[in-house]
Amino acid sequence: MAKYRVGVIGCGRKGGQHARAYALNPLTEVAAFADTDPENLELYCKYYGVPGYSDYREMLEKEAVDIAAPILPVRPNPEVVVGCAEAGVKAILCEKPIAASLADADRMVAACQSRGIKFGAGDLDRNLPQYWQALEIIESGELGEVKSINFNGGSGTEMSGGGCQLFSLMRLFAGDADVAWAIGWVADDPQSDHDQGVAGYLRFTNGIEGFMHRETDARGNGFEVSCTRGVFRSSDGHLSLWKAADDVDRPTWQTLSKVEGVLPEGRVYGRMSGDYDQEGWRWPGDRNIASVQSIVDALEKNIEPRGSGDNGRKVLEMAIALRESHRRGHVPVRLPLEDRSLRLFPKSSRMDNKKPQMGRETYMPQIQGKRQT
Ligand SMILES: NC(=O)c1ccc[n+]([C@@H]2O[C@H](COP(=O)([O-])OP(=O)(O)OC[C@H]3O[C@@H](n4cnc5c(N)ncnc54)[C@H](O)[C@@H]3O)[C@@H](O)[C@H]2O)c1
Repeated sequence: MAKYRVGVIGCGRKGGQHARAYALNPLTEVAAFADTDPENLELYCKYYGVPGYSDYREMLEKEAVDIAAPILPVRPNPEVVVGCAEAGVKAILCEKPIAASLADADRMVAACQSRGIKFGAGDLDRNLPQYWQALEIIESGELGEVKSINFNGGSGTEMSGGGCQLFSLMRLFAGDADVAWAIGWVADDPQSDHDQGVAGYLRFTNGIEGFMHRETDARGNGFEVSCTRGVFRSSDGHLSLWKAADDVDRPTWQTLSKVEGVLPEGRVYGRMSGDYDQEGWRWPGDRNIASVQSIVDALEKNIEPRGSGDNGRKVLEMAIALRESHRRGHVPVRLPLEDRSLRLFPKSSRMDNKKPQMGRETYMPQIQGKRQT
């Protein structure tokens, strides 16, 4: 059976993981690489025995690429995603955060939507199948009506860079409804366009309430989806369900019982990236495998990827709206935000190439895709 041909753009720390995840997927093959850094490019072309290009546009012209995988720092990401869409690929899976400005995110989504291109943004926790299993149970009504989603883990120091993972999960359990309005506050300077911690309240159009704490507490990282007759918890990646018995009229925490044997045991992340398989390849991580599967499913089943580009744009907007609220004196801010020039720069290690920031000696061992013998 013909496989989808993947063109990986960016042979950096994360690009290597995506490449391996595509190589392991039975429906995809790595067809070519593109990178502006000749040393990184050569390393990955040798691993896979495929052609390499310094310009991704030339790769797309020559290699009949079905899935473009721009795994790039945030600064070049918007231009390259739009360039891939214009070149006429079938699907694009880039990394997160999607962009710095809402205007860039808008044109990326529009470039893909107008051409019917499946567009995913990010190797996200929300792509993990266990969360969709939990969502199915919640959507069946077994726990009653969803009332609120509470992130006790907090956004830490990044409302965009790392925070987009949390906001993406919040959206998932809010049924991917739009946010109507938000009240927030940031950790440092509300006037700054740079990433920082955030906390606040997001009111979804379907009435579900989202609460984002900023710092972790004794419960560690996690969140709860609180429903009228039960609670779903993700606590440091361990999932649990709590439910009131049918004959309980007014459930309280004391009357909820843990539902055993329904959700998978162990942490959702499974085998993390970093160790090596028997053939000496660095394992990309179960989550990256799931993220690649999601873009393949989007093509095969003609559905949206689980972590779509539109999701990437909306979680950026959620973070910016919380900061906007602080800027305006903690007032409620309505979404969608009218000013699309608003922006939020992720930290420099996400915004620009890591090699010059880390130094070549420290950096190069981190992009090895295979065990060095
Ligand atoms: N989902 C996650 O959990 C996760 C984890 C790590 C990184 N990331 C994201 O992945 C992205 C990349 O991170 P990284 O660690 O691989 O960075 P990196 O600096 O190691 O790699 C970037 C690569 O892109 C290449 N590049 C830059 N501009 C290019 C262009 N215009 N055309 C072709 N190649 C170009 C660079 O030469 C480099 O090889 C970042 O956005 C980061 O936020 C996500």
